[in-house]
Amino acid sequence: MSAPDRHVLGVVGSLRRGSYNHLLLRHAASAAPERLRIEVVPDLIDLPLFNEDLETDGLPESVVAMHERIRAADGIVLATPEYNFGVPGPVKNFLDWASRPPGRSPLRGKPIALMGASTGRTGGTVQCQGQLRVSLAVLGAHVLPSPPVLVAEAPGKFDADGNVTDEMTRKVTGIALTAFLGLIDTLTPTP
Ligand SMILES: Cc1cc2nc3c(=O)[nH]c(=O)nc-3n(C[C@H](O)[C@H](O)[C@H](O)COP(=O)(O)O)c2cc1C
Repeated sequence: MSAPDRHVLGVVGSLRRGSYNHLLLRHAASAAPERLRIEVVPDLIDLPLFNEDLETDGLPESVVAMHERIRAADGIVLATPEYNFGVPGPVKNFLDWASRPPGRSPLRGKPIALMGASTGRTGGTVQCQGQLRVSLAVLGAHVLPSPPVLVAEAPGKFDADGNVTDEMTRKVTGIALTAFLGLIDTLTPTP
């Protein structure tokens, strides 16, 4: 057994109790390679709505703490639903806060893995992930290119205890996390 030497933040894009995306992230945390520790953090719910006046008046504590957590982490796993074929408001709010200050965003150069679950029949959050890739590229983050973790028809893929039962979801999540560790090692080699 090797101890984890890479620590990443697990961010959930849904504030809903019983969120499938929270369950998917919980699964990812337990299925991650031994070297990768995923810490699920409550960043989205603690953040105020983005407002430039708050930057002038003094950054809220929750924003400062979130910036510090991102800077200290080796990467981020973001598991989010798709709302109306787009990025849920809390996730966009998180990105807008994390994009600041301009040119010095803590997301700059950060490895990021996206995953998503939806109850819909098609896509499994593919449109949301496409939009996130555009925003994250602008901010200089490095999003894992593939494989995409897209879980459609989520209710049939978890058991009553919230465990992932779908074999393909387990397989793709495992491959993505291994690839993510490889991306982190490539971008930020350890001394
Ligand atoms: C406002 C709203 C918009 C939604 N839009 C979409 C959508 O565009 N595509 C989709 O596949 N599911 C959509 N859904 C259904 C979500 O996939 C479903 O609510 C899912 O459970 C949300 O993720 P969670 O379980 O992590 O909270 C939407 C749900 C809500 C509440």
